[in-house]
Amino acid sequence: MSDLKKIKEEFISKLKLKLDLAQINEIKSDLFGKSGLITSQFKQIASIAESERKNFASDLNLIKDELQSLINTKISEIEIADINEKLEKEKIDVTLPERTIIRGKIHPVSQTIDEISSIFSEIGFSVAEGPDVENEYNNFTALNTPDHHPARDMHDTFYLDKEKKKLLRTHTSPVQIRTMLKNKPPFKIIAPGRTYRSDSDQTHAPMFHQVEGLHIDKDINMGHLKGCLNYFIKEFFEVDKIQMRFRPSHFPFTEPSAEVDIGYKIKDGKIIIGEGDKWLEILGCGMVHPNVLKNVKINPDSFQGFAFGIGIDRLAMLKYGINDLRAFFECDYRWLNHFGFDPLDVPTNYRGLSR
Ligand code: DAH
Repeated sequence: MSDLKKIKEEFISKLKLKLDLAQINEIKSDLFGKSGLITSQFKQIASIAESERKNFASDLNLIKDELQSLINTKISEIEIADINEKLEKEKIDVTLPERTIIRGKIHPVSQTIDEISSIFSEIGFSVAEGPDVENEYNNFTALNTPDHHPARDMHDTFYLDKEKKKLLRTHTSPVQIRTMLKNKPPFKIIAPGRTYRSDSDQTHAPMFHQVEGLHIDKDINMGHLKGCLNYFIKEFFEVDKIQMRFRPSHFPFTEPSAEVDIGYKIKDGKIIIGEGDKWLEILGCGMVHPNVLKNVKINPDSFQGFAFGIGIDRLAMLKYGINDLRAFFECDYRWLNHFGFDPLDVPTNYRGLSR
């Protein structure tokens, strides 16, 4: 048998075996590599007798083609087998039940703060902030609240040290002081946030939320206060008309002071805001006391304005029909799922203020 035939038969039978890619590559280099068997046969062509050279070269080319095509077929077979194996292994089972994604809900208090901030921002108020841990000066003294005032009593205020210098702010009003000390008038701010008092029952929690409002300029008067609150309440409760009553009251930091009631009625066990002959107190307000302005180095003969403080939790309860304040702070997941807001559902009076 000629050398060529021997090579051909040997390798055809080798290529019939089950081979992996590495083994095939080895065969390839045994045949066609630099010193491969077929390569060396080609090198011999020149030394072959002229009469046989043509036949030899033609046989060699045929064998070369045949072996090469066998190798190529083998390689594609292996590649296809690999792909099939991968497809088999990585098969997606579309019948598997989906994994449940638990999406959080926005707490009604956060939702209400967003709504309030967004309504006030439409009429030019910006949002100011202050810390929960306040000093006595900002919380009481600068707000014209004398030492003997009942709010200063241990029973009402959480003091954090014996000297009564640090406390948990009892209202958001100290943000008025912080804002006015840091900047120059005019001021037009709201300050929503947490507040604390030693109190706990169905309508009082030791931690609750307020939003403070402050508008100081050259000629801001009670008329502006009324217009501003009237606008806010209508927008917040999404009603066209609201009955509003200013009842004379007393706060050390405002003169005159008032509490604002809104009209409501109960219909089919539900509270309807804006009409009816019942009154509900929702906020305290007044014209900023000249002493407060003096305390923050503002001349009360040049500047004046109004302030208000609204209980946020109360508003949220009224708007969303929640009747026990304590539920707000119990972190009951089922409650939150029921009363909370879907983060992807945009409420009607939400104007896009970012959290
Ligand atoms: N700080 C008062 C409170 O917690 C509420 C309040 C009343 C705030 C009148 C004001 C205001 O700014 O002018 O009871």
